[in-house]
Amino acid sequence: MLTINSRIRDYEVHYHETLEFVSLLKQNPEYHWVIDKNVWELYSPRIFRDLDQAKVILFPIDEERKTLVGVQEIYDRLIEKKARRNTVLICVGGGILQDITGFVASTLFRGLEWVLVPTTLLAQADSCIGGKTSLNYKVFKNLLGTFYPPSRVLVCPSFLLTLNDIDFYSGLGEVLKLHLMGGENKVKELAGMLPGIEQKNPRALMTTIQSSHEIKYSYMREDEFDKGKRNLLNFGHCFGHALESSSRFAIPHGQAVILGILLANTVALTRGLMSEKKQNMIAEKLLLPALSVKLEREYFSQQPVVEAMKKDKKRIGEGLALVMMKNEYEMIQVNDLATAEVSIALDTIAGWLEQRGKFRTGDNLVFP
Ligand SMILES: NC(=O)c1ccc[n+]([C@@H]2O[C@H](COP(=O)([O-])OP(=O)(O)OC[C@H]3O[C@@H](n4cnc5c(N)ncnc54)[C@H](O)[C@@H]3O)[C@@H](O)[C@H]2O)c1
Ligand SMILES: [Zn+2]
Repeated sequence: MLTINSRIRDYEVHYHETLEFVSLLKQNPEYHWVIDKNVWELYSPRIFRDLDQAKVILFPIDEERKTLVGVQEIYDRLIEKKARRNTVLICVGGGILQDITGFVASTLFRGLEWVLVPTTLLAQADSCIGGKTSLNYKVFKNLLGTFYPPSRVLVCPSFLLTLNDIDFYSGLGEVLKLHLMGGENKVKELAGMLPGIEQKNPRALMTTIQSSHEIKYSYMREDEFDKGKRNLLNFGHCFGHALESSSRFAIPHGQAVILGILLANTVALTRGLMSEKKQNMIAEKLLLPALSVKLEREYFSQQPVVEAMKKDKKRIGEGLALVMMKNEYEMIQVNDLATAEVSIALDTIAGWLEQRGKFRTGDNLVFP
């Protein structure tokens, strides 16, 4: 178990090897369940069979519904179901459902208690700790949000056995980011563990998830509300969010983070902060094998990417903001990134990816 100290409420992360913990949750009459529809379909015979249907909201997942529209739908359903101030929401799903349910919990009746059961690799390894809730607004990713941690997080890697490759490798993007931020030993540990992770070996998954939490917590501990050190967790996200926008969310979040790290490292190389050797090692050994999505050249067009980066909510100066890694796995944020640097990085990485067959071609229009 890991206890996370928060100025809003301290909360515990529990790690479970099997899905049996769900039966205990089912006994509390004040619980209202918000469940990812896909998870429901996959798991209802096994774990949700005897749930009181009057207490269940099934939510079909779509980044386009991680908006006020999705939130309103859940408010309406909860009011219909006579939820009260002592209602506890149990969210069972990935990062999208977590963001929506957390937002609902933080606003309905001025705050409801909620419990989080993350079911994707991204949600288990990364988003389930940190207490952020987020909604997309118009074309802007995660523009609205609150800090509102659940009272408990229950992590069980068994859920990951049913995750498809795209979502699994998307989660791996955040895992890679965190381990790079954890320093050389964490990178080595992860590199050794990758074959086990890809085979969804339960022990490898559990170790990697716990290690991801340890690293993320080390960045959040003294900066819960994103005023300084926690901003560094935006590594891979400055370019990553912009690529999600330029691809109209065709690139899954964690895959965009991988591309974002490749781009940030290219800028670091050009600025003399990282050696070519280190950049190549990270790109070829860690990032490229985890890049499963097929890309379009237009996602890397300068104009939409720069426009999206200008709207980055973490930007403070006149220039663009970028979190980068130096040679020795030391993280820094700069606020003077120039449009010309973005352009060069986009062209360099697009060319590099093209050579490695990462772009769609006529006969390759679906995910591998
Ligand atoms: N709040 C935060 O701190 C934070 C941090 C990182 C990312 N995020 C957000 O998380 C979102 C991405 O989350 P995600 O990658 O978990 O995606 P997701 O929630 O969209 O889930 C991906 C897909 O997997 C399905 N799924 C979920 N669990 C499954 C299971 N066990 N088996 C089979 N299918 C399953 C879902 O139905 C969905 O189709 C983004 O919107 C991102 O902005 C939030
Ligand atoms: Zn992320």
